Order: sequence, then structure tokens, then C-alpha cells
Amino acid sequence: MEVKTFGVIGAGQMGNGIVQVAAQSGLDVIMTDISDEALERGMKSITKNLEKAVSKGKMSEDDKNAVLGRISTSVDMKEMEKADFVVEAAVEREDLKFKLFKDLDSICKPEVILSTNTSSIPIGRIAAQTTRPDKVIGMHFMNPVPVMKLVEIIRGIGTSDETFDITMDLSVKFGKTPAEASDFPGFIANRILLPMINEAVFALYHSVGKKEDIDTVMKLGMNHPMGPLELADLIGLDTCLAIMETLYDGFRDPKYRPCPLLRKYVEAGWLGRKTGRGFYTY
Ligand code: CAA
Repeated sequence: MEVKTFGVIGAGQMGNGIVQVAAQSGLDVIMTDISDEALERGMKSITKNLEKAVSKGKMSEDDKNAVLGRISTSVDMKEMEKADFVVEAAVEREDLKFKLFKDLDSICKPEVILSTNTSSIPIGRIAAQTTRPDKVIGMHFMNPVPVMKLVEIIRGIGTSDETFDITMDLSVKFGKTPAEASDFPGFIANRILLPMINEAVFALYHSVGKKEDIDTVMKLGMNHPMGPLELADLIGLDTCLAIMETLYDGFRDPKYRPCPLLRKYVEAGWLGRKTGRGFYTY
């Protein structure tokens, strides 16, 4: 099956990044979200990224306009009936994803693959909400999507080989390098990354070091491009907490318990860059 029209649910930082790479690869893209404001913010971010590429001489003005011309937006999820492949990039809440997959299953053509950008929820559980579990797969992009080379591809227990192959090919078309992971909570990326971030929050909580020192140790001592607390602010502290909860619930192992300080920040609405305050102030 040839994918010509690509559907993205969610215009947030992951969703709009996915829309951008899909449109840059030549596909027509439909982006939906629940409000016009969210769609406008998403388009603004894409436009800003493309304008930056033009100003750096990495893209022509015509190419920028062509990419933007391939993107359409709507608050009506029924638009997904036109899509040949869908990726869901809504917030990391199981109840919401279940509802979206039930709706997508009834809206989309029967042959369409329904993928999810979930960062940790088991694919099999999401697939079970649909009548096409063989066509449900994890397509986990990294933030910031236009820059990061990886896409983690997660097969659910019922995912077919054909679905897997199409998703791998699409990732390559987007200029990304896919890596395959099995369907366990957190898959590979977040099973390793999030406990490290959570431990950095514990180090802050236990006053082992100031936030700047914790980040400096990991940046200069381990050559990480960002410190773990800065990175948590980029990912979103609510997302970090949701992933830790999924690991903790999924494995029932106390090593995955979220740091109380992380929970406190989330409860205060200090979610990182997107709210202007997390471990740092923006
Ligand atoms: N959107 C688009 N492009 C961006 C961007 C964004 N949000 N942020 C930076 N860029 C681009 C810049 O425009 C620049 O492009 P050029 O090379 O064309 O000039 C390039 O990225 C480098 O940016 P900067 O020079 O401003 O800064 P940097 O060299 O410090 O890189 C970074 C910024 C790429 C974010 C780097 O700090 C980094 O790699 N950080 C780690 C990111 C990471 O670990 N991501 C994974 C998070 S985990 C996840 O996403 C999974 C999950 O489920 C939680």
C-alpha cells in the first residue's frame, strides 16, 4: 500500500514536529487537534522552523511554501478518513488514547495503519481498542522531532509483518533511523532515559547537588548534550511523571517509583518549558 496522505492527531510539540518531517518528505499531511488555537500554535512552530531553515540557506523559499502547502488542519477527526497512515501524538493518557483509537478505528479506511507516538503505554493494550490489532504499531519519535534521528518502532503482540515493514520504510522516508523494540512499558528509550532523569530529580530532592551542578556533571562528565533536569523541562514534567507511573505500574518494581519532588512540580503546574517554569525558569 502506498502512503500518500499522512494523518497526525495532535498539534503539540511532538505532533507538529511529526507533521513537519512528513510534509518535508513529500507527503500530504492532515493535522487535527481539539481546538483552533492548538492547531495555530502547531502551524506557527512549523513555520518558524522552516523560516529558520530558509534564513540559514538550508531550504529555498519555494520549498518552504511547498511544504506548508502540503499541510491541512482541522478540529474534526473525521478528516482522518482521507489518510493512508495515521500517527496519534496526543497527550500521554491511557484513557484518552483508548478513546482516540476507538474513534480512529471507525473513521479510517480498514486497510489503514494506526500508529501511536506513545512514549510508554503498551501497544497491545492500545491495539485491543480496535478491530485491527494487526495494523496497530508504535512509532515513537524523539523531541525535537525535526532534529533527532531516531524513531523507535514497537510491535504489539498482534502487529503484522506488513505493518512493521511499512512503518520501517516510512521512518526511513522521513530521514530517520528506526530501531525496533518489544512491547514492554517504556520500550527501550524511556526504560533507560526516564529512570536516569528520575534519579537526577532524587539527587536534587536529597540535596546531593544544585540543579546546575547536576546538569553540569552529566553534560561535561558524560558528554550528554543537555543535563537531565534541562531535558526533563524539554520533555515536559507531566510526561516524565506519566512515563514513570507507567513503568512503576507495569513492572511493579520500586526502582521505578517517581520522585516525590517530580510529582510536586507537576501538581504545581510547573511542567517545564511549555509552562515557562520547571526545574528552570524560561
Ligand atoms: N525544533 C526544531 N529544530 C530545533 C529545535 C526544535 N525544538 N531545537 C533545536 N533545533 C535545531 C536548531 O535550529 C539547530 O539547527 P541547525 O543545525 O540547522 O542550525 C540544531 O537543532 C541545533 O540546535 P542549537 O544549536 O540551538 O542547540 P544544540 O546544539 O544545543 O542542540 C538539541 C539542541 C538538539 C535539543 C540538543 O541539545 C539535544 O540533542 N538535546 C537532547 C535531546 C534529547 O535527548 N531528546 C530526546 C528526549 S526523549 C524523547 O523525546 C522521548 C520521550 O518519549 C520522552
